[in-house]
Amino acid sequence: MSQIKFDFNNMFSSAVGARHGVTRGDIDRISGRAAAAQEHLSKVLAGPSQRIALALEWTQLPLQDKKTVAGIQALGSQIANKFDAVLFLGIGGSYLGLKAAQDALCPPYFNEFPSLRKKKPRIYFEGNNLDPETLSVLLRRLNPRKTAVVVISKSGETSETKAAFMMAQAWLKKAVGSRFGRQVFVITDPDSGSLRKYVQSQQKKDALSFCDLPLLKGVGGRFSEFNMGLLHLAIVGVEIQRVLDGARDMAKRCTASQPMENPALLYALLHTILYQKKAKALAILMPFSETLKSTADWYVQLLAESLGKKYGRKIERPAGAGERWSQDYSRVVNLGRTPISARGTNDLHSIQQNNIEGENNKVITFIRVKKFGRDLRIPGKGDLLSGKSYSQLLALAQEATEWALVQESRPNCAIILPEVTAYSWGALLFFFEMAVAYEGELLDVNAFDQPGVEGYKNYMYYKLGKPGLAKEIAEKIRNNPLVKDQRWII
Ligand code: PA5
Repeated sequence: MSQIKFDFNNMFSSAVGARHGVTRGDIDRISGRAAAAQEHLSKVLAGPSQRIALALEWTQLPLQDKKTVAGIQALGSQIANKFDAVLFLGIGGSYLGLKAAQDALCPPYFNEFPSLRKKKPRIYFEGNNLDPETLSVLLRRLNPRKTAVVVISKSGETSETKAAFMMAQAWLKKAVGSRFGRQVFVITDPDSGSLRKYVQSQQKKDALSFCDLPLLKGVGGRFSEFNMGLLHLAIVGVEIQRVLDGARDMAKRCTASQPMENPALLYALLHTILYQKKAKALAILMPFSETLKSTADWYVQLLAESLGKKYGRKIERPAGAGERWSQDYSRVVNLGRTPISARGTNDLHSIQQNNIEGENNKVITFIRVKKFGRDLRIPGKGDLLSGKSYSQLLALAQEATEWALVQESRPNCAIILPEVTAYSWGALLFFFEMAVAYEGELLDVNAFDQPGVEGYKNYMYYKLGKPGLAKEIAEKIRNNPLVKDQRWII
């Protein structure tokens, strides 16, 4: 199986100069931190209960037992055989991985052409926004008798998902009657959350309703595609084991102690140098592939929520127990590169102008695909483009973009995928997850929580009158209202 390669040439001073690129000295200075990061991460990964407590259990997902995987694959086929459409409801980590898989691993225009779908149902994603337009259209157009609803929420509390689920349930119930729950599939925490409680109450009424798949403990939303995304893969007919095989093989590479043998560690340390020493605070991920654009969107959440942190990490080691990580409120760090997703060649006519001539504050990661599943040769004679294949032109455009960036001393690197397959896509996701984990170590922040997301949720809960909201949160909102001076609204 040919492996993903990583081309870091243009990250170095030899390509883009010492002011903007990584020098030998930079590497020497960070090597102690990099070794400590690798050592610390492998130490905490070695303890099963430690992994769960620190939300690092996602590292074990590539090794899931084959029986569980076969069971999900079979359930997916049953759903696919029974329904014409499947409506997935979820947001953030409960959506982005599925959408990335849909676009990368299913043929483009999947929903439009039955011959491409090979008897699989049409796939829709909702519950990822509170914009009423899209769900309204869908619920008016889909046939509820022929639609399965898969609701995904780890916490079981997320407003966007909950609202869409309430709408979808009422819609199903109206058309199908009391047995509507047999068309509902639920992926949520095995014990906690209001969705879990609701599932239990519904199953008491009808044991065949609300078929549910539990999420594993210690797997955070954005790190959970190889857990909560598996049913989707099975429904669209992707061989789950191939995805996991790719992730498992990448896991082996990404746990090596030496950066030159560990692409995730090398990626993390080069980016950390460029971020902290050369002021490259923007991270642009630019696959040269239309179908990998959603994978770049998935990465935006992974990087932003994992590393965009106000406080440094506090590590406690209580006697006889493993490590505990929390926020160190005495250490405000406000760290984290800002991720941006783009795609070539489309965005060469857009963000690329700024990449080349705007502030030199970014690092661009390309994803280059060597072989496409389908290709086109441009017909005719005599034109510059005649006889050229699309993949040839795309590769040239990517090379040209690298060249242009190097001319302007803009650091960049490339991840080279032999092909976009279930195997290579699984490996790609796992690579990014490990790279983020190493970056978290290097920056000394907890990459596995997302306290910043709570602010808007609490405000909404307060305004909606949710019972049980902590007193200090309610007081903070009450005492700090949003000020809208009408003079500034013109
Ligand atoms: O990474 C995370 O944990 C979050 O981004 C969640 O995925 C997101 O908030 C959705 O949460 P839930 O799955 O609980 O509905």
